Amino acid sequence: MALCVTGSIAAFKAVEIARHFIQKGVRVLPVLTRSGARFVGHATFTGLCGEVARDDMWDASFPGELHIHLATEADVVVVAPATADAIARFASGRADDLMAALVLCARGPVVIAPAMHPRMYAHPATQRNVGVLRSDGRVTLVGPVVGEVANGEVGLGRMAEPSDIAAAALSLLRPQDLAGLRIVVTAGPTVEDLDPVRYLSNRSSGRMGFAIAQQAAARGAKVVLVAGPVELATPSGVERVNVRSAMEMRNALWQAMGPELKAADALVMAAAVADYRAAEPSDVKLKRVAGPQSIHFIANPDLLAELGAARSGRSPMLVGFALETATGDELARLAQAKLQSKKVDLVVANGASDAIGGDDTQAMLVSASGIETLAPMTKVALADRLLDRVAAYGKAGS
Ligand SMILES: Cc1cc2nc3c(=O)[nH]c(=O)nc-3n(C[C@H](O)[C@H](O)[C@H](O)COP(=O)(O)O)c2cc1C
Repeated sequence: MALCVTGSIAAFKAVEIARHFIQKGVRVLPVLTRSGARFVGHATFTGLCGEVARDDMWDASFPGELHIHLATEADVVVVAPATADAIARFASGRADDLMAALVLCARGPVVIAPAMHPRMYAHPATQRNVGVLRSDGRVTLVGPVVGEVANGEVGLGRMAEPSDIAAAALSLLRPQDLAGLRIVVTAGPTVEDLDPVRYLSNRSSGRMGFAIAQQAAARGAKVVLVAGPVELATPSGVERVNVRSAMEMRNALWQAMGPELKAADALVMAAAVADYRAAEPSDVKLKRVAGPQSIHFIANPDLLAELGAARSGRSPMLVGFALETATGDELARLAQAKLQSKKVDLVVANGASDAIGGDDTQAMLVSASGIETLAPMTKVALADRLLDRVAAYGKAGS
């Protein structure tokens, strides 16, 4: 864990954050900005963490590139407190000191805990910078919270509690149990054009597939995410391939899986691929006609079944999703049928009313060894349960 301390009056609280990490047995690499070091000295962090507190990219005592070294060593980078100035530099991608360069080349999650006077936080420039960080999707912001700040005023700008910042960072410190695996994930709907302005699609948000890609990367996998048209930010460390139609997804998928499917250890097919496309999409906008209009649809290929049929042996692991309006035993039966007909290893079955659009879902994991009915949980938590199966599958085969 790298702990970066910037020049806020709340810098003294970073000592408590470091102590939380150390109590959990986590190695802490302290980094100070020049301003941060004016609030709490190197000796405090060096003494507490047992690691040299660094503040200088040009540190001649370090043989090599210090920012790259720290980024390689740290599974998570925490910036607490984060000044308005530091946030502005992160938002514009600056690398003008050790901390900013470290954040820019972090290989894992970055946690940022803003701390400043409420007027500084409310300023449009700060709000714009925070918005940029949010929409880039590369950092986790913890706080600020409403409370008393250094001069006694109350407002939104106080740093979140050290224990909350530490807990958020520790939750991101993941076991790298998928390291060495290459996982292909599909997500989102596909869009089938009817004419230049109209299309056939479905209500998939892409959140399930993006959660799987995010969690797989956090657990050390190399992830290729083949995504239908959704507005979600690409999770940190994930290679994204954008597609539109089922046929485009098919091409991207076969490319990602490689010759004889050897380029991937697992495929998780979370995309809601359209079953049909227009037989002859019109090049020009279809005109409104009086009376019924009919469009001739043809079936899209079943992308997962094609891969199931092409696979020889047990690798790559193939995971499908069954989104049905059925529930209970009927849903389990449909998932079992899908498991067999598509020749896959695991089917995640969920009811349409539980799964579409929201952040939460309820699912069953259906495999040859049985059915596990899971409690309602977030899509991120479900992603982890599914990836536990992927990790176990890898181990069982080795
Ligand atoms: C006493 C004092 C307290 C400060 N507290 C804060 C603060 O809480 N938040 C903040 O954004 N800036 C604060 N600043 C201003 C920053 O230290 C200043 O913007 C500095 O350039 C930040 O550098 P850094 O982000 O590289 O650490 C404070 C400055 C002083 C002198």
